[in-house]
Amino acid sequence: MVDYNHPMHTGTGLITEIYLDGSAQMDCPPNLIPAPGQYLLAHASGSTSPLPVSVYFYDSAPKGFRFAPPLPPTWTIGTQLNLRGPLGHGFSVPANTRKLALIALESSSARLNGLIPIALKQGAEVVLVSESAPSDLPEVVEVQPLRSLEEICKWADFIAVDSARETLPQVKKLFEKLNQVSAVREAQVLIQAPLPCGGLAECGVCAVTSHHPHEWKMACKDGPVFGMNFFI
Ligand code: FES
Repeated sequence: MVDYNHPMHTGTGLITEIYLDGSAQMDCPPNLIPAPGQYLLAHASGSTSPLPVSVYFYDSAPKGFRFAPPLPPTWTIGTQLNLRGPLGHGFSVPANTRKLALIALESSSARLNGLIPIALKQGAEVVLVSESAPSDLPEVVEVQPLRSLEEICKWADFIAVDSARETLPQVKKLFEKLNQVSAVREAQVLIQAPLPCGGLAECGVCAVTSHHPHEWKMACKDGPVFGMNFFI
């Protein structure tokens, strides 16, 4: 997997638009825009909250980017954000990908959305497995319900998953099953966990375990996207 740990920057962003799905658009300097799967730590100016919010790429926007839901309740149009990032390892779609499966185990598939234009540009077919699809999804992207998960994963040659840390045992089981069918398939998983310090304070809140029971990794800097070999 490609290391997306670009040099880290600080700067400010401004929320300019809010969407019904809880995503929002921010204007910010180009060097702060995270790649799909990477994140920014954002702290609203004047906020009394001690912890920053992790913000993920959803879509391109003219002066910044659209970020994935959920939107913190106090953030509105005009909120100024102090930003640090981009942080962590993002997704890396292999150049030879022809059949991409996007698996959204969480309520929104927004964090996977940035992979669609990359895959389409490479001439790949894209299937989104999710219980809810965004209304502005390109028509060429097929949407399948979660009950088709295994079938679509067997079809795909590259799989990108968005999963909460609590759902990882389910992802692991799926990978073990797929591995019995074919060992050549490649997969990457974006693990959602709280990322309060982004690796700065080594707080350990974002810890995840690998297939070795005593091996811990930090989602904030070793991830939040991990390759399939981390799990099986
Ligand atoms: S968020 Fe603190 S160590 Fe990962």
